[in-house]
Amino acid sequence: MKAKKAVGKRIGIIGVGNIGSSILRGLLAADADTGIERVFISDARKETLRYFESDSGMKSGVEVCDNNEEVAKNSEVIILAVKPNMVKEVVEGIAPFVTDRMILISVAAGVLTKTIEGSLGEGTKVIRVMPNIGARVSESVSAICKGRYAGADDEEIAKGILSVIGSVYSVNERDMDVITGLSGSGIAFFAAVIDAMADGGVYEGLPRDLALVISAKTALGAAKMVLAGDTPSEIQAMTASPGGTTIRGLYALETRGVKAAMMRAVIDATERAGEIRRTGSADEE
Ligand SMILES: NC(=O)c1ccc[n+]([C@@H]2O[C@H](COP(=O)([O-])OP(=O)(O)OC[C@H]3O[C@@H](n4cnc5c(N)ncnc54)[C@H](OP(=O)(O)O)[C@@H]3O)[C@@H](O)[C@H]2O)c1
Repeated sequence: MKAKKAVGKRIGIIGVGNIGSSILRGLLAADADTGIERVFISDARKETLRYFESDSGMKSGVEVCDNNEEVAKNSEVIILAVKPNMVKEVVEGIAPFVTDRMILISVAAGVLTKTIEGSLGEGTKVIRVMPNIGARVSESVSAICKGRYAGADDEEIAKGILSVIGSVYSVNERDMDVITGLSGSGIAFFAAVIDAMADGGVYEGLPRDLALVISAKTALGAAKMVLAGDTPSEIQAMTASPGGTTIRGLYALETRGVKAAMMRAVIDATERAGEIRRTGSADEE
């Protein structure tokens, strides 16, 4: 999905790692009617910036800046995509250049909008986003909420930007922990399931490459059916014939507590997100 709305002429991205570079790629590929003229980027990692400056990178439309302050000075919308433990330092560094006409979008896990607002001038518009690594293939699920001073228009602009890496859903900030568990971390849980299913195929004699692609595409089919309106139980009922293979496998999942384990993974990850938010002590999702 590409950004359809006007999202600002000058966009800055501070931190072009996994998430920041995915947003950058999406913005550069976005439709012309987004109004984006230039994307300013900075990163502590100089080799990353060299890639973007090189011909093999995404030179066109991108301006590599020497530092974060330069990004802030040039941008109308700043996307902050550094690890959570770096947010305070980076925000304090750019604060003198962030005006109340700008929007600051943070994708940092566990960093509250009020924490970021606290390091900026009164009235600064802050938007918080929890994306996931599906951003690399434009399939991020991003949850978005606005801070105290951001308005509905600012949220729309942020949604337009985030739509370049996938789908975007507005949530209350209090739900960000569970979104982190279900989606930010959850994509890794699905990867574990795909891997385990593929291992089952290998155990039964399939070559690994084939087993993995069939496992992943089977997951994709289930996901697309759910999104098209079939419930998970309907998919199970459509597949499980009496005395057949599927009901045997579903019974195996049930008796081994797989559903409870999957629920527990989301619950534990959500609890961990809360711990990180409260203590600010970790920088991992
Ligand atoms: N990855 C995910 O699945 C995911 C999901 C949801 C949310 N998020 C959030 O997205 C944010 C970015 O995550 P990521 O996975 O993209 O991290 P990443 O790949 O490590 O990218 C962050 C980049 O920022 C750079 N950086 C560090 N300090 C900086 C500074 N002071 N100024 C400018 N750049 C600086 C890093 O350089 P160095 O490597 O040299 O430090 C790195 O290149 C995090 O806050 C994370 O919570 C990530």
